Amino acid sequence: MEFGGDTGLWQRKIAESKEGVARRLVTIEALTLLTGQSILDVGCGGGHLVKEIGLAVGETGKVVGVDSSPEQLESATLLCEGFPQIELVNGSATDLSIGSGSFDSVASIQVLDYVPDVDTAIGEMRRVLRPGGKVALISVLWDHWRFHGADPILNERIFEVWRDHCKHQMLPLEMPMKLSKVGFQGIVQKPIGFINSHMHSNAFAYFASKLVAAFAVSKGIAQEDALLWLRQLADADKSGDFGFVSMPVLTSAVAS
Ligand SMILES: C[S@@+](CC[C@H](N)C(=O)[O-])C[C@H]1O[C@@H](n2cnc3c(N)ncnc32)[C@H](O)[C@@H]1O
Repeated sequence: MEFGGDTGLWQRKIAESKEGVARRLVTIEALTLLTGQSILDVGCGGGHLVKEIGLAVGETGKVVGVDSSPEQLESATLLCEGFPQIELVNGSATDLSIGSGSFDSVASIQVLDYVPDVDTAIGEMRRVLRPGGKVALISVLWDHWRFHGADPILNERIFEVWRDHCKHQMLPLEMPMKLSKVGFQGIVQKPIGFINSHMHSNAFAYFASKLVAAFAVSKGIAQEDALLWLRQLADADKSGDFGFVSMPVLTSAVAS
């Protein structure tokens, strides 16, 4: 999935929702940041985590946000204005073009799910970390990411198509093995699952439903079917039958 246009906008709205904030909180906790540290955020999106880390490490520290989407970086640049310790770079998770051993920690929230060569990306993270440096990575158990309340047959059709929006459906289950192979130890996993039982106008599910419908149309689902699905979810919300479930997982580890 590309993160330009409306997709990028809805993704940034998701980052600002309560659940988006919660993901950054657990990530920051896992990194135990200190003033003056150097931190890398791979796939920084709209820059929310970069800015929060920038506040923690201060002007004696450094935060680099890398993203492959120029539109996401444009938003991140606006958000991070006035922070000399923040550098935003257009680049790829699989080729960071950064010197080895440069960072105290690397963070990445819901990015590796989209990277075809995820092993190379994890190898790059290990390479740019100093020994003893930490990673905090969030990826999602997509098989358990579900809207409830629409007609079950239409819901299934939409979700069959949605599987294609990323490369790795169940990456958290593979992370411990992948991290230990490239020299990480002390691997800990923490589920940060949540449910939305309503689609209020700042709910994760509200923006996620728009993302899913637009992606489904881009992959051949008829526009009227996608709109019907959205209406069914809205009706279910009114009648109390709506539900959205997600199971992101934080994986943290230390570079040996
Ligand atoms: C779901 S968004 C998450 C953004 C941000 N980490 C957050 O939590 O709000 C995924 C981000 O990863 C970026 N991305 C996807 N593949 C990438 C790659 N191979 N290298 C760098 N960034 C990538 C996208 O452009 C997008 O901004």
